[in-house]
Amino acid sequence: FESGVLAGQRVVITAGPTQEPLDPVRYISNHSSGKMGYALARAAIEAGAHVDLVSGPVALTAPDRVQLHRVTTAKEMLDACMNLVNDCDIFIGCAAVADYRPVTAAEQKIKKSEEEMSLQLVRNPDVLAQITNCSPKPFSVGFAAETEKLREHAIGKLERKNLDMIVANDVSDSSIGFNSENNAALLLWQNADGDGELNIEQCSKDVLASMVVAQISAIQQRKR
Ligand code: C5P
Repeated sequence: FESGVLAGQRVVITAGPTQEPLDPVRYISNHSSGKMGYALARAAIEAGAHVDLVSGPVALTAPDRVQLHRVTTAKEMLDACMNLVNDCDIFIGCAAVADYRPVTAAEQKIKKSEEEMSLQLVRNPDVLAQITNCSPKPFSVGFAAETEKLREHAIGKLERKNLDMIVANDVSDSSIGFNSENNAALLLWQNADGDGELNIEQCSKDVLASMVVAQISAIQQRKR
């Protein structure tokens, strides 16, 4: 019997990058260590939640008691999440999903020949947007990594993806984000009580994760 602010709640978290194969030895991906997503999984476990962590390829060990689902591509991430959504109270999309994938993955290694080559890419599904289209919709949290106009772009995503909360990071600052141990964030939310925000100064990803979990719990309680 768990105690804590998320006791009894089922949380699904996506983390890490996705890899989209070009051929058996190459892929398209994003910079993402998975550290923020894994820190969130730890914080949610400490808050008493049941946690499913849907993770792309990363060099991290999953926290104890977390149900780990390993995936490689965006399509696999979507399938894993859709299988979990019916039993999910809170969904946190922290993965750096590749926006595009190669139209086809070559069966054999692509050989070099011409001076130039082009790749044909096709849009990947938006995992988070598909989750927020489900009914019932879990309390949904997204991340926004921006290099400019942080608040404006984050509010756009909050509304477009029908999120309850967004965690916005300024990734133009190389001391935070990506492979760093530290992060800083602007949390923005919207609910029946109105909009709110919380600015979190640079701190460890573990501290940031606990603060995000505490804020999710506070807002979700007001919603209930
Ligand atoms: O639109 P953008 O990719 O910047 O939105 C970022 C948010 O959406 C993150 O929470 C990310 O995990 C999620 N996302 C997703 N599937 C995609 C693209 C983004 O779940 N294909």
